[in-house]
Order: sequence, then structure tokens, then C-alpha cells
Amino acid sequence: MMKERKVSFSGIQPSGELHLGNYLGALRHWPTFQEKYDCVYCVVDAHAITVRQDPAKLRRSTLELYAQLIACGIDPEKSILFVQSQVPAHAELAWILNCYTMFGELSRMTQFKDKSARNADNINAGLFTYPSLMAADILLYQTDVVPVGEDQRQHVELARDIVKRFNGVYGDVFTEPEAVIPKFGARVMSLNNPESKMSKSMPEGCVFVMEKPEDIMRKFKRAVTDSDTENCVCYDRAAKPGVATLMDIYSACTGRSFEAIEAEFAGQGYGAFKPKVGEAVVELLRPVREETQRLLADKAYLESVYRAGAEKAAHVAERTLRKVQKKVGFLAR
Ligand code: TRP
Repeated sequence: MMKERKVSFSGIQPSGELHLGNYLGALRHWPTFQEKYDCVYCVVDAHAITVRQDPAKLRRSTLELYAQLIACGIDPEKSILFVQSQVPAHAELAWILNCYTMFGELSRMTQFKDKSARNADNINAGLFTYPSLMAADILLYQTDVVPVGEDQRQHVELARDIVKRFNGVYGDVFTEPEAVIPKFGARVMSLNNPESKMSKSMPEGCVFVMEKPEDIMRKFKRAVTDSDTENCVCYDRAAKPGVATLMDIYSACTGRSFEAIEAEFAGQGYGAFKPKVGEAVVELLRPVREETQRLLADKAYLESVYRAGAEKAAHVAERTLRKVQKKVGFLAR
């Protein structure tokens, strides 16, 4: 890759279905990076198997997510868009980086602690070394910026520490990446439990990108508001978390301020407000859903795109990998 522009690397796991929180908080903004950076987008199926997956479902979700990224506006001609397991350099570099990552560092990762508490019967080595694979993803492309949510900051910091350690011994091999935590990453809360983040584990409060409009409408009509008899559409996150959640979503879909929304629904109450939010979400997601369905109906096209993406990725990644292999003392092929 020519280093005229900075390189941005984004990774997303194909575990389960994409929902409104993922879309509003991250995916919706991803295509805009293409204006500013040389972008690499990766569906990280190798990370997904750190927890048990149903193989047929994983294959399906990987392809669906790949199609959704295109449907959101990522241009596979302009950017590198690929599936992680199809570029072996990721696994190869991850092994080498494992030998430059400390047991203590990995033990301090909060995601590892959380996930091992939740999957007590499957605390496998892959779950533990997850951050070295993530570092390999990032470092193979000489990445400058990594747009992630707050929860991934610690992993990017670890990647930086690995770079410092490795470059300290061998010279300037890797670019030091920087996490960028976007401000727009509005946390979307659950529709039926506005104290928790929207999550696929609570499907009634979660709206999926591929969901049918009538199902989306039903979820919004049933959304928790509050028992306040005034029925007032006004923003008060502490006193009226359900209404605040709906206002957050409506604002993110329409670009309107809370004041404008309050004025729009003055004197109308929740009965009028809830279906309006539902409609705004349905219309926001419609083009993504329809384009994804269109792409998924053309398997031959999708295959040709992900093959070309893997080839482009491998070309860049192998350059870095060869350099690293030489530095650590592997015999040239
Ligand atoms: N760990 C990230 C997540 O769960 C996904 C990911 C894998 C990633 N490799 C990456 C993100 C590289 C950014 C860069 O969200």
C-alpha cells in the first residue's frame, strides 16, 4: 500500500446478527473513513471461534456480514474488504506475536476476564491469546488508526506495547497504531430494558438490521417508556430512561436535536411517538436490508468479491510477514 494516506483498520466479528446498536454506533460511520484513509475492513471469523460456534451458522453469518458491509457503503474496489481466515498471514503473525506478548499482559485484559467468567466451561487458549491475533490483524497492514469502541481500547494499547517491544529489538518493523474512539458512538440501549445496552441476548429489546419492518414496528410499539401519566416526550435519562432511549434512536435516525423532537411531539404522548421512531428505524435500515438481500442472492458475485479482497489483503500482509520472519531468524523460503 502506498503510504500517501494513513491506513485505517476495522475488524468486526461475525457472531450473531447485526443490530441497530452496531449499525448506529459503528457500521454506519465506517464508509466515511474511505474519504480520509486507505481502509482495510475485516470480518474476523478466526476471533469468533474463541467461543463455540455452530459451523453452518458461522459460515452464513460471515457471508451475511460481508454483504452487509458492502450494503452499508464500503466499496470493495476502493478499500480492502476481506475475511480473516482467508488470509493465512494473520494466523502466522499471531503465532510470532504470541512469543512477544507476556502472560501477565494477557491476564490483565478485561475482555478475557469477562468472557472467561461467562464461558467458564471453555476458557481456551485462543480466548486468552485473542489480543495477539488482533494485534496481528492491525500490524500486518502497517495501520495508523484503529476505529474501535471503548471496550477495545485496551487491546489496541496492547498492540502498541507489542510494537514498541518488537521494534525495540529489531528496528522499525511495525507502524505504531492508535485507537480512535469516535464521539458519535452513541450507546443504543435496549428497548425493553433501557438500563442495559441493546444486545442480541435480549432479542425483544433488540432490533436487527435484517428484521422485517412489521417486527421492528411491533418492538417499538412495545418499547418500555414509563408510567408517568403526563406521557410527555421529553429528555430525562435518569427519570425517564425508556423515553430517552427512544429519543436517542430517533435523533440518530433523523439528525434532529432533542429540543426539535420535544417540539415535534408536544402534546402528543407516547402513543404517537413510539410508532414514529419505529418508522424512522425501518426507513433507515430498509436500503441496507434490501441491498444485503440482493447481494446474498448473487453468491457467485459475492464469492468473486471476497476472493479478490483476500488476494489484495494477502499481498499487503505478506510483505510485512516476510520482513518479520526474516527479523526473527526464520530461513527464507
Ligand atoms: N476485537 C474486536 C471486537 O470484538 C474485533 C477485532 C478483531 C478488531 N480484530 C480487530 C477490531 C482489529 C479492530 C482491529 O470488536
